[in-house]
Amino acid sequence: MPELTASADPLVMVTAYDYPGGRHAEAAGVDLILVGDSLGNVVLGYDSTAPVTLADMIHHGKAVRRGAPNTFLVVDLPFGTYHTGVHDAMRHAVKVIQETGADALKLEGSTPEVLDVVGTLTRNGIPVMGHVGLMPQTATAQGGLTVQGKDDASARRTLDGALALQDAGAFAAVLEAIPARLARLITERLAIPTIGIGAGVHCRGQVLVTHDLLGVYEGEHKKIAKRYAEVGQVSREAITAYAAEVRGRTFPARENSFVMKDDVLDKLY
Ligand code: KIV
Repeated sequence: MPELTASADPLVMVTAYDYPGGRHAEAAGVDLILVGDSLGNVVLGYDSTAPVTLADMIHHGKAVRRGAPNTFLVVDLPFGTYHTGVHDAMRHAVKVIQETGADALKLEGSTPEVLDVVGTLTRNGIPVMGHVGLMPQTATAQGGLTVQGKDDASARRTLDGALALQDAGAFAAVLEAIPARLARLITERLAIPTIGIGAGVHCRGQVLVTHDLLGVYEGEHKKIAKRYAEVGQVSREAITAYAAEVRGRTFPARENSFVMKDDVLDKLY
């Protein structure tokens, strides 16, 4: 089982959704890979993470694990799979761990019900990463995909939620879309690492959705993401060039074709 290097500071986490994504992330030497339920948006074309199923997460988690056998792998429990009681949550968690080979699971929120689940999973040997701030699975209830923690109540809720997740046994907590100074305070208060996305530079680690950082997924430009490449554009240019060569009959060329002996062909003629 891959170890999470305790000394790695800051921790580098990226998402991956398939075998090549796992391979690239592992080759790049990241500390953790997350099979995020952002899968729903950036791979499956849904407009939220809510439709993502346990079967989707297992299917993609297995592929990522095949590509990244030696990196600490976290898989998201999708919406609805840990909201109907601790027994269901435990059953779903065991299924994901057994079938994907994940090292840990991530779930969103810090309600008493979610904290119950975190406690049950961790007591039964399943490491859990928490997630507070903006929580895409329940974003509608949070007023949409907007920054959290800006007013008294929301800032207090986010801080208390992170502390409660730690108390329940979480080994790390994602802080999504909260002011940098709130993230700093939470990071200082917690003994477990915080992993930020849109939460400033003071978190113990950072995570980005790989399709955002690669420019594969060119939806609306997100403030919390930085594009390090233009893979979407490169892909379109390559496919356009291929189409032009097919239409111009310059592909396949000789070097892409197989040969056979004349006498074998002559017999057919
Ligand atoms: O689903 C996901 O990709 C996530 C990250 C944004 C942390 O939860």
